[in-house]
Amino acid sequence: MSDQAERLRHLVESRMQGAPDMPLRPDNERETRVITVTSGKGGVGKSNFTLNFSIALQQLGYRVLIFDADIGLANIDVLMGLSPNYSLYHLLKKEKSIFDIVQIGYGGVRFIAGGSGFTDLLRLSESELNEFAEQVSLLNGHFDYILFDTGAGLSKETMKFILAAHETFVVTTPEPTSLTDGYAIIKMVHQQEEAVQFRLVINRVTDEQEGKATAEKISLVAKRFLDIDIPTLGYVTDDSHVSRAVRRQIPFTAAYPNSDAAREIMSIAERYAGMNRLKRESSSGIKGFLSKMLRLLNNS
Ligand SMILES: Nc1ncnc2c1ncn2[C@@H]1O[C@H](COP(=O)(O)OP(=O)(O)O)[C@@H](O)[C@H]1O
Ligand SMILES: [Mg+2]
Repeated sequence: MSDQAERLRHLVESRMQGAPDMPLRPDNERETRVITVTSGKGGVGKSNFTLNFSIALQQLGYRVLIFDADIGLANIDVLMGLSPNYSLYHLLKKEKSIFDIVQIGYGGVRFIAGGSGFTDLLRLSESELNEFAEQVSLLNGHFDYILFDTGAGLSKETMKFILAAHETFVVTTPEPTSLTDGYAIIKMVHQQEEAVQFRLVINRVTDEQEGKATAEKISLVAKRFLDIDIPTLGYVTDDSHVSRAVRRQIPFTAAYPNSDAAREIMSIAERYAGMNRLKRESSSGIKGFLSKMLRLLNNS
């Protein structure tokens, strides 16, 4: 089957698998958990992790939205070989509602493409920003998880998403440069806001041993100098299936579900979802996220 045909089949299947058409029905019982995915250095696998982790969560029965927030380099749509009809741009230009710009991706995962509009978002007036936040808050209860895929490094904008999310995943590889840049992000964020919760994702490891050793390097330094505990979310193997899938523009969990990387992502998602089910801390959901974000934006 050609890749084009495979993409089409996946999309049709995801629609048939009870993935309802937009607008999704809100479920007031469910709390939307907001996660920001970031890294110190670019090219460490953030977008691939975000996309495939989201697909894995969706496969487990959760409703997931990816918000492509990598300013200027948005590429979640490219990783799926999709050309979204609408992006954030149309929302900001008031041509479309938030529900109109939510696109359907692999396995029923929803995504909002960054498009060229995202940089505009950060220059919105206060009233425009309020309107944007109101639109985003309409998503409350429609999703179990919203993941922001940010650019590398700590831009002012990424900082806002980190500060406003429930938790931040820091993706790093075992390479020393990636590691030190990853730690630098954690340190800078921590200096601004001590309450931010981090989790480490160690990508492209040769084996679990290397993953553990890498995670330990960061967590020991963070404990010693910042006095914070940084748990590890998981390790993902350096797997040639990943770049093969990227070239085919099909997420690796869909293209090669039995590859090491796909299996690992699946078990990371299972563990993470299980943890949240158990924890169910009383938290304010997306409304809290938005009011925090508004406050931060207005203060800057
Ligand atoms: N687990 C992995 N194994 C092998 N290659 C990987 C892995 N994760 C990422 N890559 C490679 O790194 C490239 C960049 O990944 P990407 O997710 O776009 O990074 P980022 O979003 O951090 O810039 C991919 O195109 C792929 O070739
Ligand atoms: Mg990326």
